Amino acid sequence: MMRLQTTIMTMAATLALAACVEREAPTGAEDFATFCAACHGTSGRGNGPAAVGLDRKPADLTGLSARNGGAFPGTAVMAKIWGYTGASPGGRVDGSPMPEFGPLLQGDLVPYDGGDGTQTPTPVRLVQIAEYLRLLQE
Ligand code: HEC
Repeated sequence: MMRLQTTIMTMAATLALAACVEREAPTGAEDFATFCAACHGTSGRGNGPAAVGLDRKPADLTGLSARNGGAFPGTAVMAKIWGYTGASPGGRVDGSPMPEFGPLLQGDLVPYDGGDGTQTPTPVRLVQIAEYLRLLQE
C-alpha cells in the first residue's frame, strides 16, 4: 500500500514538474505569437495589427532568405532579435521600434551558429525563434 502511494505521489510530482517545465519553455512558434506577431503578423508577413501605428513598416519575415540571396541570414536575425544594438539608455541605437525581449533572454545559453561559422552562446528561446523564422522562409 505504501508502495502504491509513493508511486502515485511520485507520478503526481513528475506531472506537476512537467507542467511547470512546459510553461517555462514555450516553443519558438509560441514565442513568435506572443512577442512578434502583433507587428509582424501571425504568418510573419509584416501585417500585424500593431503595424498600423508604426512609422517603420515591420519587415516581411517570410522573405529574409530571399532578400539575402537565398541564404537564411541567421547572424543578422539573431543580432536584431537579441537587441544588443539597443542596449543604450536612449533606446535602440538602430532607431528600430522593436522592443527588447527580456523574458526571451532568460533560460539556458546554447551554441548558435547563424551561418558565419561562429558558435555564440545564445539564449535558447532566441535560438528557437530564429529556427522558427527559418521555417517561415519562402
Ligand atoms: C513593435 C513592433 C515590433 C515587434 C513587437 C517586433 N518587431 Fe521585428 N521589426 C519591426 C519593424 C518596424 C521592423 C523594420 C524596421 C527595422 O528593421 O527595425 C522590424 C524588423 C525585424 C527584423 C529585420 C528584418 C530584415 O529584413 O532585416 C527581424 C529579423 C525582426 N523584426 C524579427 C522580429 C522578431 C523575431 C520579433 C519577436 C521576437 C519581432 N521582430 C518583434 C517591428 C516589430
